[in-house]
Amino acid sequence: MEKIVCGKMNQTKTPDQLYFTMQAEIGITKHMGGKQATKKLIELCNIKENSFVLDVGCGTGKTACFLAEKIGCKVFGIDLYEGMIKQAKERAKRKKIKGIEFSAANAEQLPFKDNTFDAVISESVVGFFKDKQKGLNEFARVTKPNGFIGINELTWTGNPEQKITDSMKNLMGAEFNDFKGWKKLMENSGLKEIQVTEFKPNALKQFFDEISWMELRDFFLPWIKVVLLIIKSKEYRNYIKGMAKTPLNVSKYMGYGIYSGRK
Ligand SMILES: C[S@@+](CC[C@H](N)C(=O)[O-])C[C@H]1O[C@@H](n2cnc3c(N)ncnc32)[C@H](O)[C@@H]1O
Repeated sequence: MEKIVCGKMNQTKTPDQLYFTMQAEIGITKHMGGKQATKKLIELCNIKENSFVLDVGCGTGKTACFLAEKIGCKVFGIDLYEGMIKQAKERAKRKKIKGIEFSAANAEQLPFKDNTFDAVISESVVGFFKDKQKGLNEFARVTKPNGFIGINELTWTGNPEQKITDSMKNLMGAEFNDFKGWKKLMENSGLKEIQVTEFKPNALKQFFDEISWMELRDFFLPWIKVVLLIIKSKEYRNYIKGMAKTPLNVSKYMGYGIYSGRK
């Protein structure tokens, strides 16, 4: 899969390309559980000041900047979309954060040597991979022996009807697992000491988890950008209309898990 440049309004895009180019345009990405979940992931992956950390699918760079700024470790963030990397670099520059690098790359073919990082983390990303096992094997390859791998992934609880799983695929190109399914993928990557931390937040809690990590500018600028996108592009207009058709009971089946293990 090639790196994707954002803002090409007249090309036909796949659901995941539409979803992510839109997020990169408005400058917001998110994951289940917000900052609290990120702190848990940091703890489970034993990330300390002297760690070298890879954030896979870093989006607009919130977690990578948090790691460099608050923990003081060295961080590399990669994302498939050039538009996300641009946003992440701008965030680091705006906050004057040092010890951080960003580059566009495909997680399923990481451009790093074996045994490079003390920890590889990824939040709400693996669900979008075409080949999840290949992606997780890559995470393990670039992690140092005894280093940590931690992912936060949307996880089905109960048995969602097919129209719900189909809607995620059609809207975002994503396919999620249940807790056992995600654990199995970690095991198949050869990891040891696997821990699964299960969460089942309600929609209101998830909403507050997300907004609690937003900056003041995130409350205004993105809405203006959404309106401009809707005016500029029929493709995005149709996409937003499609979003409104998501089955209302989807949140009934949505949980998330933090899955960590050691190489
Ligand atoms: C839901 S967003 C989460 C972003 C970020 N981790 C966060 O928590 O805000 C998923 C991110 O994964 C990236 N992504 C999806 N597939 C990818 C791949 N194959 N390689 C690298 N990044 C990918 C998307 O571009 C997007 O930025």
